[in-house]
Amino acid sequence: MANIDLFPFLGLVVLIPLTILVIILKLITRPNPIKIPIKSRHVLITGGSSGIGLALAHQAVLEGARVTILARNLSKLEEAKDSIRLSTGIDVGIVSADVCDFESVKKVFENVGEIDVLVCNQGVFVAQEFVEQEISEVKQMIDINLVGCFNLVKAALVGMKNRKDRRPVSIAFMSSQAGQVGIYGYAAYSASKFGLRGLAEALQQEVIADDIHVSLIFPPDTDTPGLAEENKRKPQLTHIIAASSGAMKADEVAKKALNGIKSGSFFVPCNFEGFLLSIATAGLSPQRSYLMAFVEVISAGLMRIAGLCFQWTWYGSIEKFHAQPK
Ligand SMILES: *[C@@H]1O[C@H](CO)[C@@H](O)[C@H](O)[C@H]1NC(C)=O
Repeated sequence: MANIDLFPFLGLVVLIPLTILVIILKLITRPNPIKIPIKSRHVLITGGSSGIGLALAHQAVLEGARVTILARNLSKLEEAKDSIRLSTGIDVGIVSADVCDFESVKKVFENVGEIDVLVCNQGVFVAQEFVEQEISEVKQMIDINLVGCFNLVKAALVGMKNRKDRRPVSIAFMSSQAGQVGIYGYAAYSASKFGLRGLAEALQQEVIADDIHVSLIFPPDTDTPGLAEENKRKPQLTHIIAASSGAMKADEVAKKALNGIKSGSFFVPCNFEGFLLSIATAGLSPQRSYLMAFVEVISAGLMRIAGLCFQWTWYGSIEKFHAQPK
């Protein structure tokens, strides 16, 4: 009965190449895995007076970090500080600065002490058809979301490179799922968030020798004052195409973000959908985990099919929308 031996044989035929693949991936994935300790270290969070930034400040405080939050509006910063003190009994530092003003960011960073974790979290979004959108609004999104991050990193980098505490440190950028895929109504926003990926990928190569590690966080729609504002002007087609399974809570996003930063992950997705999106858009991005690399390699073709299916539904929605009598 020769066919009885077929199953173990087939098993080996599949198992051996997969094992070899895992071994190869373990050898070649770079950068190497890293842990970023945050206890007793200085975490500076921009856009820290509300939404994800405030939630992140909260959790970093609870994990024993020394936290400074940066935003423009001083009275909102005071309110945020009070709310953190109220629930944790611990004070955070507050600094008022406009991330778009490099000189002011530089001055502020000269006075806050060594930064171990810089979280560039500030951001604005207005979803609107590009043809309707004021160019000043486009520029504002690019300025705050993208150029603001250049200002922050530029102002922080020399201090981070010359730090006395030689343990690994982190620079994290708050991107968005709209920084992984372009969506109707998000031309300027997506451009600013896609820009962060270029910045993050190039920067990681430049700072790795100083044990500085870059994370790029991709939250979905999050329940924040920002989202409420955004939804007011969202085009109908944006609602149809980006119809998500509901917004995530800022606390949940903050938790994923902080864990991602601590584990030194380059891509930090925040939910299962985001996990799939990160695999689908892995491209030439750095990957520290050989197991994630394995998942990416194995599922690449399937992910492309899923991506094409999304495009098929989106373009279907667009066609249907325009076919409606006006
Ligand atoms: C600053 O925040 C306070 C309190 O939230 C608000 O009343 C005020 O309008 C804000 N100021 C500016 C310039 O946005």
